[in-house]
Amino acid sequence: MGVAVKVAPHEKFLGIYWVKLEDGTKHLATLNLAPGRIVYGEKLVAYKGEEYRIWDPYRSKLAAAILNGLQTVPIKPEHKVLYLGAATGTTSSHVSDIVGCKGHVYCVEFAPRVMRELISNVCAYRPNMSPILADARFAENYRMLVETVDDIYCDIAQPEQARILADNADMFLASGGHIMLAIKSQSIDVTKAPSEIYRQEIEVLKKRGFKITEVINLEPYEKAHMMVVAEYTK
Ligand SMILES: C[S@@+](CC[C@H](N)C(=O)[O-])C[C@H]1O[C@@H](n2cnc3c(N)ncnc32)[C@H](O)[C@@H]1O
Repeated sequence: MGVAVKVAPHEKFLGIYWVKLEDGTKHLATLNLAPGRIVYGEKLVAYKGEEYRIWDPYRSKLAAAILNGLQTVPIKPEHKVLYLGAATGTTSSHVSDIVGCKGHVYCVEFAPRVMRELISNVCAYRPNMSPILADARFAENYRMLVETVDDIYCDIAQPEQARILADNADMFLASGGHIMLAIKSQSIDVTKAPSEIYRQEIEVLKKRGFKITEVINLEPYEKAHMMVVAEYTK
């Protein structure tokens, strides 16, 4: 484990930190809810008796969006979050750090091998994460496992992501809650220009009652990706 020269809370976002290392570089980080455990090879650093995880924007679209100037991160300490497309826990583990032990992260993932790794490497050490092996297209199948949430984070790289997200919001998201949607242009329709794909997905969200608050490009960290933040009213 390395040692940080300085750690300071992010100037805007609760539960997110800036870490300065001995080589002078500055990085985003979160406070490690599972001390001693790493999830995806990220660096751990100690500072004043606490352990922080350096948050890699080349591996996590949420970190990329923050570094690219996102104005609001709706996910906050004590929030309940539904995470669609949790994969092996790269970003969802940082979300778990942010919401802390009074918050909760419901992790939906439909690939069994990926889910096994998420459980054994991440959820087993984090009491605030619930793994749910399910297809996000069929939210009714996990209705009994998820309570009303403050935010939904969606990164499923699937056609009709916005519709799938809206269906989940109708079932689980509190009125006034927020969504974050990572749109990958190629995964939706390879024959269309990226800008057209982003526009279409955003239109779907608007028609389903979302007020779009931010749209941010994730280059250079992620190619052909946008992050959309929106507020939901039932
Ligand atoms: C781009 S990866 C997610 C990366 C993750 N958000 C992160 O930053 O650590 C997309 C994940 O969504 C999962 N996925 C795709 N379609 C899904 C669906 N309909 N229901 C549940 N999971 C799905 C895939 O198996 C894959 O693990």
